Amino acid sequence: MHNLDAAGHVRGESQYLDDIPTQRGTLHAAVYGSPLAHGVLDGLNLAAARRAPGVVRILTAEDIPGENQIGGIVPDEPLLAEGHVHFQGQPVALVLAETEAQARAAVKLIEADITPLPVITDPRVAAAQNELIVPPRTFRLGDPAAAWAECAHIIEGTAENGGQEHLYIETQGAYAYPTDGGGVRVHSSTQGPTAVQRHTARVLGLGMHKVEVDVVRLGGGFGGKEDQATTWGALAALAAHVLRKPVKLVLPRHDDLRMTGKRHPYSSDFRLGLSADLKLLAYEVTFYQNAGAAADLSPAVLERTLFHACNTYFVPNVRATAYSCRTNLPPNTAFRGFGGPQGMFVIESAIAQAAEQLGVPAYEIQRRNLLQDGQVFPYGQRVDDCNATQSWQTAEEKFGLEGWQREVDAFNAENHTRKRGLAVMPICFGISFTKTAMNQARALVHIYTDGSVGISTGAVEMGQGVNTKMIQVAARTLGISAKRVRIEATNTTRVANTSPSAASATADLNGKAVELACRELRARLMRHAADELKLEYEGLEIRDEQVLAAGKPAETDWEKLVSSAYWKRVSLTENAHYATPDLWFDQTQEKGHPFAYHVYGTALVQATVDVLRGTYDLDAVRLVHDFGQSFTPGIDRGQIEGGLVQGLGWMTMEELLYNEDGRLLSNALSTYKVPDIYSVPPVLDVEFLETPGHPNAILRAKAVGEPPLMYGLGAYFAIRNAVRAFRPAARPAFSAPITPEKVLLALHGPLLPQPPAPAAAAATVTAQ
Ligand code: MTE
Ligand code: HPA
Ligand code: MOS
Repeated sequence: MHNLDAAGHVRGESQYLDDIPTQRGTLHAAVYGSPLAHGVLDGLNLAAARRAPGVVRILTAEDIPGENQIGGIVPDEPLLAEGHVHFQGQPVALVLAETEAQARAAVKLIEADITPLPVITDPRVAAAQNELIVPPRTFRLGDPAAAWAECAHIIEGTAENGGQEHLYIETQGAYAYPTDGGGVRVHSSTQGPTAVQRHTARVLGLGMHKVEVDVVRLGGGFGGKEDQATTWGALAALAAHVLRKPVKLVLPRHDDLRMTGKRHPYSSDFRLGLSADLKLLAYEVTFYQNAGAAADLSPAVLERTLFHACNTYFVPNVRATAYSCRTNLPPNTAFRGFGGPQGMFVIESAIAQAAEQLGVPAYEIQRRNLLQDGQVFPYGQRVDDCNATQSWQTAEEKFGLEGWQREVDAFNAENHTRKRGLAVMPICFGISFTKTAMNQARALVHIYTDGSVGISTGAVEMGQGVNTKMIQVAARTLGISAKRVRIEATNTTRVANTSPSAASATADLNGKAVELACRELRARLMRHAADELKLEYEGLEIRDEQVLAAGKPAETDWEKLVSSAYWKRVSLTENAHYATPDLWFDQTQEKGHPFAYHVYGTALVQATVDVLRGTYDLDAVRLVHDFGQSFTPGIDRGQIEGGLVQGLGWMTMEELLYNEDGRLLSNALSTYKVPDIYSVPPVLDVEFLETPGHPNAILRAKAVGEPPLMYGLGAYFAIRNAVRAFRPAARPAFSAPITPEKVLLALHGPLLPQPPAPAAAAATVTAQ
């Protein structure tokens, strides 16, 4: 089945928030954001803006009838600034005007009286001042302190990664209007309809039952609308509620770029110990997460970093500590991988450094330390159904790792102005929300009397194809054509208390609920058929819309059966609840069974560097991925391609820059480079690993949304290897993105001090 949305998207017919027809009298909102990153908000001068043409009202924190609070995990984030400002662009006031242009023009006339306070942008500076969002956390396995003595080689260093702008094509926005009985309906571009509902209710001082949130689809979310759509939904709802008018708020791209948080930059210290035969014996790592000015989802992101600190390797002795550091940047938030990629970049850097210093290819170390069934993750979950070795070996055989490396070496021996590098990037990603309680979902299924079917779930379509998957699950389970099934907009009054569409778990959680509801309906219809046709219930089934009794066509089909069930007063509606089985986590011990299963895969990445210019091409990515039993292979392949390219962008060209005042410098697409169609490697092979899938995965098709982003990490190491093929003494910092500027400096700039070769046992090697 093709992606249901493809035709509508290509024709421009698909509806997004901004396409919803507005009611007469709709007001347009624009946000005034703080001009300074930190300070005391002494006052606001709104007089000129109030007099501006078309302006109807300007709202500030004082106008909030309920609580001025939208913090999801920690209540530390006002909807509109009050008393202090904590980042540039922090919403301070909301202008309502007759047109969008008038609202935006009036925003420019607002002045804030702010006494500046010191600005922190560096997470290590924040940590040194004890500016932490939550207390630090440490995951432990074995006894690294004792293990160091056993290590033949010990490698130490630092790794850093930058942030990443989500750059969903559709900017953040909401359309809200008052409803009968003092409520409000909010159309929101959100991954988390319930989050918007909950916080809007809190801000307005209403029960959640008076706030209805509706989502048709998103023009991309990538995590950026998991928590941060709430601000705009709540602001539009606030204005609609206070003014009793419909209010539309859609962020201009420039506001979206500077006001919203991004992927978390991290700065990390690592220490890795290996045996003489390249077994990883001990790993200590300290992560400094740049959380920005409020908690947002940072504590959960931090936790997922710890869960992925060892990537797909078994290390018997581990200590991983993570600090969530408060800085004066916009609060950073969920982004595809949710902290996992940051954790994995550090151990891959440590392995690369070890390989370089020991004079072996990194893949020799990677290959020897892949997870095996029966081992244990540092967080206590036992490794089972592990495909790490299977995916590695399949990739190695299919793509000829050793032969490929020899080709790269031969190319490098012959060419002097261009050099190639090859890197292997294996991944292991845990599927489930790390917060156990969030792993639940519901589905509401109606069969109409003509045999058509309407499904509602908590799943939000954001381009990942979840609606197509839900329809497929329903059609398969009921034994009918997908053409009969429609998926409704995601709406909090039809399906309540939903988790956000996130953690790659949307299809699993909501799909399992759809499956349960449809099974129940099918059983009910089969019991009805048995009664009507005087047949044995056992052995009755529906296939291709035909009722079969013991495999033979019976005297009824889907349409007739549904109609006759209605006349016999059989319920044609079902609501089902699904909760992932066997999940638990004990934070006091930092041990448990947090994930339903893991997704594995292995990518080979080749880069060619132009050694005169420092520019590079990513020539080929060939990967083997564990899809389980994919039932939408076109969509799933699309997720691999999109996720991979997003990861390649993060590692190579997407460079977020803030100045010391906390102002975003890369605040437009002229200065923030994102991958485009020409950035896609000309060779991109995606091989489906033969596996049975997992029973916790929907129809045994494993979650696919986030894991492929992490194949992109291979680009950093492939480029690094190419640089070192030209200049073996080069030791570029483990600092992503590895932009052409950084490559040029590594090729021709001053060399970093060389560490001594770790030939002797227990040599400790320190990198800068
Ligand atoms: N694919 C598209 N086209 N657009 C998106 O916004 N978000 C990603 C991924 N793939 C995203 C996407 C992220 S961050 C997640 S968590 C998953 O999709 C969410 O959807 P799923 O749970 O259905 O995989
Ligand atoms: N992944 C994605 N989003 C989340 C998670 C998670 O583990 N926990 C809370 N929100
Ligand atoms: Mo995805 S970062 O879990 O929205």
